[in-house]
Amino acid sequence: MDRQGFASPALDAKLLAGYGLGLTALDMALRENEPVEAGAAERIAGLMQRRLSGESVARIIGEREFYGLAFALNGATLEPRPETELLVDMALDALPQGGQLLDLGTGTGCIPIAVLVNRADASGVATDLSAEALVAAQGNAERHGVAERLVFLQGSWFEPLIENPHPSPPHKGEGTAPRVGLVAEIDHQTNSLLLVGRGGGSDAGFDLIVSNPPYINSAVIETLADEVKSFDPRLALDGGPDGLAPYRVIAAQARNWLKRGGRVLVEIGYDQGEAVTGLFEAAGFTDVTLHKDLNGLDRVVSAHHV
Ligand SMILES: C[S@@+](CC[C@H](N)C(=O)[O-])C[C@H]1O[C@@H](n2cnc3c(N)ncnc32)[C@H](O)[C@@H]1O
Repeated sequence: MDRQGFASPALDAKLLAGYGLGLTALDMALRENEPVEAGAAERIAGLMQRRLSGESVARIIGEREFYGLAFALNGATLEPRPETELLVDMALDALPQGGQLLDLGTGTGCIPIAVLVNRADASGVATDLSAEALVAAQGNAERHGVAERLVFLQGSWFEPLIENPHPSPPHKGEGTAPRVGLVAEIDHQTNSLLLVGRGGGSDAGFDLIVSNPPYINSAVIETLADEVKSFDPRLALDGGPDGLAPYRVIAAQARNWLKRGGRVLVEIGYDQGEAVTGLFEAAGFTDVTLHKDLNGLDRVVSAHHV
């Protein structure tokens, strides 16, 4: 940390200079002794000024790396955080062959995109309340070649998943046999999701529900670092008066959308383990377990729907 509170000022300066010059890290190293034109120097000074005002390098550059992939950001997306990579590792382990996952509060789409890039057999649905965040997520899914297997829906948590009271009409050539296991089917007229069958104990439903919801107590947000409170969108941070509001919705409703044997994985704040495990146990889940991140902090709660 330097005197102004920057953890890696030299690296930040190098990244911003490279961005301002339109050069890769390798080109920067090869051409480090070349003079810089006045226009480019001015551009770089402008970028440095934004950094000095507290904006992160990722926000200035407009993308951030997560799980080895670059994710474009916009004003409505949280910057993906390295600690969320644990959720991706666990999702990859938990998802059965050909499985379907549901991601709630997808932001940049980083979680389901990272999973699907590494699992060509899998597919998924992702929701977010922010339509603007979904624009970034859709672009990221296209950039990483998984858009065909990932459907984005705008709305609050499970709300955009409309239960289809009647089995969907079979696709051409499929006769009348129900397509067991196929959960996600888009109604392109209403841009909503139809379900072939609902979860809640049947063999239709999602195999896995994942979420990194907003989990910061509303009152604590003002005390966060400038880089977070002034630039990450409040909708992505604010978990209500006790930080647990999204978990209450997810714990109460997830079993309705899961296959029997399906799992839920949610990221939590380091001090929310007891409260969140309690919510999932009270909602009837079994094997409710806390998992620690590489720093030894409680980070993910997993729960099983049997
Ligand atoms: C902590 S961010 C996580 C984003 C992304 N999943 C990640 O891990 O980087 C929480 C996300 O939940 C979304 N969100 C907030 N309230 C929501 C709601 N009621 N329904 C759906 N998404 C919501 C926010 O817009 C934000 O994208």
